Amino acid sequence: MYKFHNKIKRVDWFYENYAKTDDFLIDEFLKRVNESYYYNSAKLYSSRYIDDIQEAYSSMKEELKIEDTKNNYNVVNIGAGTGFDYNILKNLNIQYDSYFFIEPSKDMIKEFLSRHNDNDDKKVVIKNNHFHEVLDDLRNKNNKFIFINSVLHHVIYIEKFLDDIKSIMNPNDILVIGHEPNNSYNPLMFFLNLTFKAIFTSALLKKAPFLKVFYDNEVKSNERWEKINTQLLDEGVIIKKMSPLTIRRIIDYGVGHKKDWKRLNIPKDYNEGFIDVHDISKYLGNEYKRKFYITYRHFGDSNGNVVIESLNNIFKSILKNHGTNFLSVWKKF
Ligand SMILES: C[S@@+](CC[C@H](N)C(=O)[O-])C[C@H]1O[C@@H](n2cnc3c(N)ncnc32)[C@H](O)[C@@H]1O
Repeated sequence: MYKFHNKIKRVDWFYENYAKTDDFLIDEFLKRVNESYYYNSAKLYSSRYIDDIQEAYSSMKEELKIEDTKNNYNVVNIGAGTGFDYNILKNLNIQYDSYFFIEPSKDMIKEFLSRHNDNDDKKVVIKNNHFHEVLDDLRNKNNKFIFINSVLHHVIYIEKFLDDIKSIMNPNDILVIGHEPNNSYNPLMFFLNLTFKAIFTSALLKKAPFLKVFYDNEVKSNERWEKINTQLLDEGVIIKKMSPLTIRRIIDYGVGHKKDWKRLNIPKDYNEGFIDVHDISKYLGNEYKRKFYITYRHFGDSNGNVVIESLNNIFKSILKNHGTNFLSVWKKF
């Protein structure tokens, strides 16, 4: 269970242990780590397996009978990235009167615009901002479809983020939180996941020092940790090197189901836990009803591996709540 309003968080421990605290406040430290990470990782993100994510959204549309909505939505897409979420809604043929594309990264927006340069969708309003900066523009819109895909687990100060969402929601508005880690992932599934990955994929081979040189992405990935550390040390942001896992757990802050953060030996007091769907429902409160919930990727990201993909498909129908990722929808009454 997530400890809302815990006095100290894991991030404070990272900051106290690695940052040059005399020169950098915690926000600036986080900003620099994020910038360096994304700058050195961009090329590794060129491909992404999305079939199962799309399927989850299709089930959502079917179950909620979204095509029956009388009025068109006002979409509020928080952390819209390079347009993945936009494409999801287009493919689902969900109709809207306006589409607020909220994305703080200029580079992401540039990428979106370059891919949609023939786009005559005049309903899209691009906001190159953080969500909290545009709340006043959104409050008075009705019939909102607040859409957040793969963003929540990057948010550290989750209470503030959820408070901001609640502050713009009117009765009948819908909140969609998708492609998030299922942090109540079952330990037995976790064990099976590791076993199947070891047997059916090259995950284990890639870890063997004498074999990893044969895996191009693995080599590039290793190089980037060096580059990130060198950059942050040169700029005087950190006082010592951070392990790849430390950097990962700063960036993918809310990913708890992999259990790897345990290797970082973070003192118990500093650990606020990892949010799951029940925590979100509890925090939203009684005025919000969960209308849809699905989990998928029971054995993680198949990345196109046929065996893992088939196992994921089989387990999706027999163990509904035990995937590594979830998609959930709430409505305000
Ligand atoms: C992993 S990306 C997901 C992008 C897109 N939704 C997708 O699924 O491809 C997370 C995005 O959230 C954005 N982001 C992070 N904090 C945010 C905030 N407070 N307000 C709006 N966007 C934010 C980041 O800039 C980044 O583009």
